[in-house]
Amino acid sequence: ETGEPPHDQKHESLEKIRKSLGDCQRCKLAKGRRNLVFGVGNPQARLVFVGEGPGGDEDRQGEPFVGEAGQVLNRIITAMGLEREDVYICNVVKCRPPDNRDPEADEIAACAPFLLRQLQSVQPEVVVALGRFAAQTLLGTKEAISKLRGKFRDYHGVPVMPTYHPSYLLRNRGDSGPFWEVWEDMTQVLRLLKLP
Ligand code: URA
Repeated sequence: ETGEPPHDQKHESLEKIRKSLGDCQRCKLAKGRRNLVFGVGNPQARLVFVGEGPGGDEDRQGEPFVGEAGQVLNRIITAMGLEREDVYICNVVKCRPPDNRDPEADEIAACAPFLLRQLQSVQPEVVVALGRFAAQTLLGTKEAISKLRGKFRDYHGVPVMPTYHPSYLLRNRGDSGPFWEVWEDMTQVLRLLKLP
């Protein structure tokens, strides 16, 4: 026992980061949003999931991954022996892109600093990047998610596991689909966390 607190209290709180976003108008997504979707879960989580951006349900409820893709993510979390409250969940962009289009480079650039501050605040032991926008934004690469997934990558000393997005799982069900690859990736995450 070193006597050190388990969590570094020097870091800024999630509340402070949320406050600094305010009624954010830093990009054009502000125009179409109902709610800014900041993040949810344990502020000291060992594991953080980063998605792409809010869909319609998330925009209405102000919480990430509460729609169909959220149900898939919840099942993944449960299958890992965890609960949604154990982890922290957020997105690359905090406001819904119109008609759920892909977030654009300027929108990601405006929002990414807040994602990075959230990660610095939570200080997770592992980050799971759900889909290509999360993986490419965190890792600063244009490589395809199919190439990135399955191996830990480094984000400022924090291991990042890129994997397929839950929406991609919904669009590709069946035995030969990407489900087992995602499960392989989550198995590696559990091993790193020494869980269960
Ligand atoms: N898809 C995402 O990437 N994020 C959400 O919050 C919901 C769906």
